[in-house]
Amino acid sequence: MAEQRENWSSRTGFIIAAVGSAVGLGNIWRFPYVAYDNGGGAFMVPYLIALFTAGIPLLFLDYIIGHKYRSAPPRAYKKVVKSGQFIGWWQTLVSFVIAIYYAAVIVWAGSYMLFSFGQKWGEDTTNFFVSDFIHHTGDLTSVFVPQMFTGLIIVWAVAMLIMFGGIRKGVELANKICIPLLIVLFGMMVFKAITLPGASIGLNAFFEPNWEKMADPSVWLAAYGHVFFSLSVGFGIMVTYASYLQKNTNLTGAGLVVGFANSSFELIAGIGIFAAIGFMAMSTGQDVSEVASGGVGLAFFVFPKIISTMGASGDFVGFLFFGSLVVAGISSLVSILEVPISAVQDKFAWQRKKAVAVIGGACAVISIAAFSTGSSLILVDVIDHFANNIGIVAGGLMSIVAITWFNRQQIPSLLAHVNRISSVKLGGAWVFMLTVITPTVLTVALGLKLIELVK
Ligand code: PHE
Ligand code: NA
Repeated sequence: MAEQRENWSSRTGFIIAAVGSAVGLGNIWRFPYVAYDNGGGAFMVPYLIALFTAGIPLLFLDYIIGHKYRSAPPRAYKKVVKSGQFIGWWQTLVSFVIAIYYAAVIVWAGSYMLFSFGQKWGEDTTNFFVSDFIHHTGDLTSVFVPQMFTGLIIVWAVAMLIMFGGIRKGVELANKICIPLLIVLFGMMVFKAITLPGASIGLNAFFEPNWEKMADPSVWLAAYGHVFFSLSVGFGIMVTYASYLQKNTNLTGAGLVVGFANSSFELIAGIGIFAAIGFMAMSTGQDVSEVASGGVGLAFFVFPKIISTMGASGDFVGFLFFGSLVVAGISSLVSILEVPISAVQDKFAWQRKKAVAVIGGACAVISIAAFSTGSSLILVDVIDHFANNIGIVAGGLMSIVAITWFNRQQIPSLLAHVNRISSVKLGGAWVFMLTVITPTVLTVALGLKLIELVK
């Protein structure tokens, strides 16, 4: 009997969910600083080149594999190459691990959304976050222990509810709520930021091109690294989402829409974040370079400072900023969870509810146990480093090389599959990118990371 696979209600439903996965914390707290730090306006050149020579080609490959074989990574790759199951399970494992801490970061952002009212972080925002809030000194009597616990329970309850709903009534519906909400929250935040005094100082710093930097190979690696992370390619998410598409789907058209939406969102984020940083620099008489930062530092050290500098009107800006992180995070978390849930359904022919209960439940329990108390920042750092730099890169590299180097005979059928209905036809150029460019860049990136680790 043929498997009754769930599907999206329409291609638009799929595109919204794929955008929800791609647009995440990376767009808001990662891209602006990476661009600023790697040449400002000039970074657009390596960024666009990375996008078109690696990010989009790999996105197409993920879509084709998931759609053609209608499976999550383990079964999908097994159908393409002999050793494929291992690659698929590797990507599944990486997704499972990422979900554990991604949920914790959402809870941090959610807590800060509440702290915004009254700006509970006080004067020393760094110390508040590191010592008081996530208290990695391990003080179990801290008021933040029950709060973190409650937050984790709420985030996991919401995530499980969405996953129990299945593809259409769960994942797709959640994204149809999250994406518009994100656009409203973040749009208001950006609008507010660009109207602040000093915004133009930040924007000038952000866009000012530093062409000399383009000679530095690390700038190019940063561009490729960011594009992979930002498009959520190479660790099974896009394979899994594409496996729920209807038979006749214009895959390349969908990929281009998703890529364009994701890049637009990061560019707008860069404008909003650097406008706010410019305001801060002007107010405190510092240079933009002294204020600018990315990641946890931007969200939990610098942004609270910016909000405090605004006085009482900062409360609402904080709500918008941290609210955006929560909403963007939820739609990404859902996509990460879908990978292991879908993989065990394929493998053991479990019903959706059972797979969600077992896999989602295990992930929730580990996440809650690990992050309610204790050394969470260090833990997040280590896992994040491993998962993002090694897990994803290695997973992406294995899947590409397995196909384009060791199973070239499969390529014609993949091309035939995508070109049958897609608007943008793929051919020699696409194969060249995935055979030569992407593996080279990923190998160099992985090599450098391993050297760094050994040191
Ligand atoms: N692509 C997401 C972003 O840019 C990050 C992400 C990572 C999403 C892992 C899903 C899984 O923020
Ligand atoms: Na992204």
